[in-house]
Parts: sequence; structure tokens; C-alpha cells
Amino acid sequence: MISPVFSADVSRYESGMKYRRCGRSGILLPEISLGLWQNFGDTSPLSRSRDMILHAFDKGICHFDLANNYGPSYGSAEATFGQIIQKDLRPYRDELFISTKAGYDMWPGPYGDKGSRKYLISSLDQSLKRMNLDYVDIFYSHRYDPDTPLEETMQALVDIVRSGKALYAGISNYPHEAAAFAYSYLREHDVPCLLHQLKYNILHRNPEKEGLIDQAMGNGSGVIAFSPLAQGLLTDRYLKGIPAGSRAERNFSLKKESITPELLGKLESLNSIAAKRGQSLAQMALAWVLRDSMVTSVIVGASSIEQLDDNLQSIGNTIFSDEEIELINGLTV
Ligand SMILES: NC(=O)c1ccc[n+]([C@@H]2O[C@H](COP(=O)([O-])OP(=O)(O)OC[C@H]3O[C@@H](n4cnc5c(N)ncnc54)[C@H](OP(=O)(O)O)[C@@H]3O)[C@@H](O)[C@H]2O)c1
Repeated sequence: MISPVFSADVSRYESGMKYRRCGRSGILLPEISLGLWQNFGDTSPLSRSRDMILHAFDKGICHFDLANNYGPSYGSAEATFGQIIQKDLRPYRDELFISTKAGYDMWPGPYGDKGSRKYLISSLDQSLKRMNLDYVDIFYSHRYDPDTPLEETMQALVDIVRSGKALYAGISNYPHEAAAFAYSYLREHDVPCLLHQLKYNILHRNPEKEGLIDQAMGNGSGVIAFSPLAQGLLTDRYLKGIPAGSRAERNFSLKKESITPELLGKLESLNSIAAKRGQSLAQMALAWVLRDSMVTSVIVGASSIEQLDDNLQSIGNTIFSDEEIELINGLTV
């Protein structure tokens, strides 16, 4: 049972959250956003999901990131969010920036995956029903599909925005060349790309190496970083082994065998650098992504309010000395 009455903290925008402008747009996003990929599906207690989402909102996190297949099970994170919208957050809808996506597998058969117009449009209709929403703030093509003409995927995004079912369009996990096409197509059709959502963290530098961050900025798009904690590796979660209930223990998206003695050695060294900065490893990892002013926001996942609160403190210090950057690069590049 969940209590029916929620009244948001009146000081939610004065609790320290900072907001950054998203590319060349009118949108500001909180430096920390909350993602519902895992921990918010129908295998997690609804009361815990609700507590985390409402706590986040009370702390100034007004951006919630979803996708059609987040859960587990597929669709259930959106259904959880939809219940919270209905019971608690409806009066605050205009304060919320809600995303969803389609591009990975969702339902069986040829129309429940990848980048066709048919998949994107029908998936968004399903997402809106599950979330009890009339529109989302941003709809993403979740990944580049080399088998569908990119014009078709982009035109679906344009038409979705024109239909009013999404206010903005975005791309996620696009390689450089496909992203270049997407930016121009969307711009030429007066639906400029708002965000490129990319995996970016201390251990995963591809967006830097492939020039995706500079490319987004050059095209007036923001960048939003997912898995900024490398799914929990860049925290103290695994420094003393694999704890019960952790993502690595579930051994699905984060494999136990990826936690090698070599990686643990690096994490210990990063933890010492963080301690010298007066931060937890999680706080330093988030601050490291946010040190780059071209990154609009980091999307964190969390399995408890304590983790979320730990992460929120990263905002206090996002400046790194040259020496710290060199030390971190020496360990991870
Ligand atoms: N566009 C895409 O293709 C894509 C792909 C992946 C993710 N995303 C988005 O990005 C969001 C975040 O991804 P993610 O969940 O991988 O992010 P993450 O923040 O790198 O990892 C989250 C996990 O780290 C652990 N954690 C978080 N804060 C902690 C803390 N302070 N101390 C110790 N452990 C902590 C928790 O693990 P435990 O659960 O073990 O406690 C939590 O579930 C997703 O929810 C989704 O919205 C997008």
C-alpha cells in the first residue's frame, strides 16, 4: 500500500541542485538526473521506487529517464512511473522533464525492435499509456539501426514531435557519422536534436575519443551521460567483494567476471584520490563527468535513497586540478 498524499518539499529548488542549459535550447536540466533502467520494475517494491522518485524530486531532480523496455520486466519501469504520476506527481507535471526511448528489443516479431517508423510510433503510444501521460518531454531513438534508412527513423522523430506526443527529440548510442546525419536531418526539419545520450564515465572514454561530445556541441545539442558510475563499479560497492543484492551479484548487465583484481586495484587507487578530495568514489566519478561543461547532466541509477543522497553531494565539487586529472588518466586511459 502506498500513502495517497504527496506534497513536494517547498525548498526543492533551493537544496543545492544546479541546472545546466541543454545545448542551444531553452531547456535546463538538473546536473543529476535519475534513470529507471533497473531497480524500478515490477520485481522491485513499489513503495521503495516511489520513495526514491519522490525523494529525488524533493532534491531538485526534475528529469527522469525511462525507456520502453526498462524494468525488469520490460515496460514495468514505465508502469511504476505511471502509478507515481497518477497518485503523486500529476500536480507537478509541468515541473517534470520525462524521457522515453525505443530502439532495443521490446516485443516479439519484426516490429518490436530497432529503428522503423512503425516501431518508434507504436512504442511511444504504448509508453504514454503505461506512464499515464499525454506527452513526454523528449523521445529518443535508443540506438542507430544500420538496416533502416536513417531518414525513416529521423522522420519518425520529426512526426512524433509534430504530433505533440513529445516536445523534443534525441538520439542515443549513435556513432559519429550517423549522429552527423541525424543532427542535420532534424535541424533541416525544424526539430533540432536536444540531446545525445551516451555512456560516459572515468572507465569508458569513447565519447571523448570519438569526438561525440564536441560534435554534439557543434550541432547545438546537449550531451547526457548514462552509467556515469559504470553500473556501480565507480563506487565503494565492490571494494570488499560482491555484496548481496548488488547488480554484479545479479550477473546480468554487470558481469561478475568483469570485476578482476586489476580493475579492483584501479578502483582502490581512484578511491584514494577521491578521499583526498574529500569525496566518496561515487561523488568523484560523477563530479569527473560534470567537470566538462559540455555535459548537460549525468543520469544515475540507484537502489536506495542513501545512494542517491551520496550521489547528490557530488555537485559540491566538480573542479579538478591538472594533477588529479593526470593521476586519473594515468590509471584509466
Ligand atoms: N541510452 C542507453 O542505452 C542507456 C543504457 C544504460 C543506462 N541508461 C540510463 O542511464 C541510467 C543510469 O544507468 P546505470 O544505472 O547503469 O547508472 P550508474 O549510476 O552507473 O549505476 C547505478 C548503480 O550503481 C550503484 N550505485 C549508485 N550510486 C551508488 C552509491 N552512491 N554508492 C554505491 N553504489 C551506488 C547501484 O548499484 P546496485 O543496484 O548494485 O546497488 C546502482 O544501481 C539508467 O537508469 C538509464 O536511465 C541509458
